Amino acid sequence: MSKVTSLQTYDEPIRVNKRIYKISNEYIVKLISSKSLLAKEDIFYEIKIARISHSMGIPVAEPIICDYVKIYGKIQMGFIMEYVAGIEGSNEEYNKSKHPDTDLQLSNQLYEVERTKAFNLGIFIVEPQWILTNDKKIKFIDVAKWQYKGLEYPFKRISENFKDYTEI
Ligand SMILES: Nc1ncnc2c1ncn2[C@@H]1O[C@H](COP(=O)(O)OP(=O)(O)OP(=O)(O)O)[C@@H](O)[C@H]1O
Ligand SMILES: [Mg+2]
Repeated sequence: MSKVTSLQTYDEPIRVNKRIYKISNEYIVKLISSKSLLAKEDIFYEIKIARISHSMGIPVAEPIICDYVKIYGKIQMGFIMEYVAGIEGSNEEYNKSKHPDTDLQLSNQLYEVERTKAFNLGIFIVEPQWILTNDKKIKFIDVAKWQYKGLEYPFKRISENFKDYTEI
């Protein structure tokens, strides 16, 4: 029996980004970074914070499992999550460009709502990255640096005290 997950249905996964591959119509995988000595790239932390956020109703790409996939013939461990189609955004992009683009404005408003909701649940959103879906909802991706009260954090915390929170 192959150790490759049955969630992978593409024999030839499609590369989306440096270490992100689409493995089926529904799922992508995020491979362990080659720079993984830096804990900040840790997919095992990322799946934990993604599961917590998802279970509390914060719209993150649905986390599935960390499992083996086969990319270019090589079996590798990765974090499998829902593939989200749409337009990518981040608050940085918005702040930089002050773009009049309505989608970008909408996604930033949605982000502000989620940021407050998350914060009140004890989730601290760091370096937000999201996708605005075709039905005009946002789903966060790359939650690797988010924090949750009580969850051991592998990096230096931006804020030890949530009350110090101003802007991220
Ligand atoms: N769940 C997803 N659905 C669709 N596309 C995704 C998803 N997750 C990641 N991507 C795509 O892959 C890119 C990189 O993902 P991510 O930011 O998680 O990886 P990274 O290694 O931190 O990359 P970077 O250093 O560029 O931020 C995203 O900008 C997006 O284009
Ligand atoms: Mg990223």
